[in-house]
Amino acid sequence: MLRSGLIQSRRSFATAVQDSLLPKKYGGRYTVTLIPGDGIGKEITDSVKQIFAKERLPIDWEEINVTGKEGSKEGVREAVESLKRNKVGLKGIWKTDATQSGHGSLNVAFRKELDIYASLTLIKNIPGVKTRLDGIDLVLIRENTEGEYSGLEHESVPGVVESLKIITQFKSERIAKFAFDFAKKNNRSEVTAVHKANIMKLADGLFRSTVKTIGAEQYPEINVKDIIVDNASMQAVSNPQQFDVLVTPNLYGAILSNIGTALVGGPGLVPGANYGREFAVFEPGSRHVGLDIQGKGVANPTAMILSSALLLRHLGLDESADKISKAVYKVIQEGKTTTQDIGGKASTQEFTQAIIDELAASA
Ligand SMILES: *[C@@H]1O[C@H](CO)[C@@H](O)[C@H](O)[C@H]1NC(C)=O
Ligand SMILES: *[C@@H]1O[C@H](CO)[C@@H](O)[C@H](O)[C@H]1NC(C)=O
Ligand SMILES: *[C@@H]1O[C@H](CO)[C@@H](O)[C@H](O)[C@H]1NC(C)=O
Repeated sequence: MLRSGLIQSRRSFATAVQDSLLPKKYGGRYTVTLIPGDGIGKEITDSVKQIFAKERLPIDWEEINVTGKEGSKEGVREAVESLKRNKVGLKGIWKTDATQSGHGSLNVAFRKELDIYASLTLIKNIPGVKTRLDGIDLVLIRENTEGEYSGLEHESVPGVVESLKIITQFKSERIAKFAFDFAKKNNRSEVTAVHKANIMKLADGLFRSTVKTIGAEQYPEINVKDIIVDNASMQAVSNPQQFDVLVTPNLYGAILSNIGTALVGGPGLVPGANYGREFAVFEPGSRHVGLDIQGKGVANPTAMILSSALLLRHLGLDESADKISKAVYKVIQEGKTTTQDIGGKASTQEFTQAIIDELAASA
């Protein structure tokens, strides 16, 4: 099977965003919304800023300093307005406090507000990073706007809480098409729908049957399968190489992307992207804020840098995307200047500098 790993064209990623809606250049430059978020967000987006500056990329950042801690709706509005202007963003993660009352996660509100419905996580071994299993190369595509994240919860009588999971045919079709289009454009041959239709016969049944129908009717060249989420979790840790493209409702995607992230070496390594009809926001594939290592200068910025490479592809700057990804891979493979999470001793800044040096050397 032909598979492109790092090197994918813009067309292969800009699946959901219509061409007419791609960001416009002004004076040959793009303005991109930058939302560092909480935790290690500032440190790892700093790495990206340095690399882009050294490479003299035609990108101007519009930095939005909103933190999830304050949980301000105004903050989200500011970020949303910026995204609506610029159409493309790079984002860290906002902290969500489990005990926060009054509103839900800012991350969820943000994605819903912009209807960025498809979330993509690229789970692939990086040469030089030791893992239990090799040969993993799977793409996880997660519906991002409904399912268990509807935000519809209430206590109907004291001690009884109802939490509504919403699955619609429209959104199931939309995410299924995204997954098949992605598979088609990236020479992948199989899409597997993850569900729990044996228990949630109506909701997950609708998701499963929709994916299967769209596949059979509109993408006959792509093999379509389905798997129960429990089994998918077991298979993911025992034989992940069997998976090609997985398409999931919201919560199962959150869980499986974390399993996948652990398989290939942790949250510091896995890039991701979120696409809507009009907007694209690039952020690490597994959404960890990293409060425990915040401010220590030890975070691994790889996930953020590789996400920024996906952003460059989205803007049609494929050459720069390839160059930066290759430099990151080379520094990790050499193993001399890597961060603690993957067994090295380097700081975030030393690792970033090693990438900048590698870019200069290969120029
Ligand atoms: C956010 O912070 C950065 C650097 O700390 C600063 O350059 C930028 O102007 C700030 N943005 C806003 C909107 O205040
Ligand atoms: C997919 O395969 C075709 C034909 O082999 C090739 O021309 C194309 O570049 C490949 N696309 C990607 C994204 O790998
Ligand atoms: C679990 O998945 C494996 C491989 O994907 C499949 O062969 C097996 O039949 C599945 N088991 C159940 C109980 O669905």
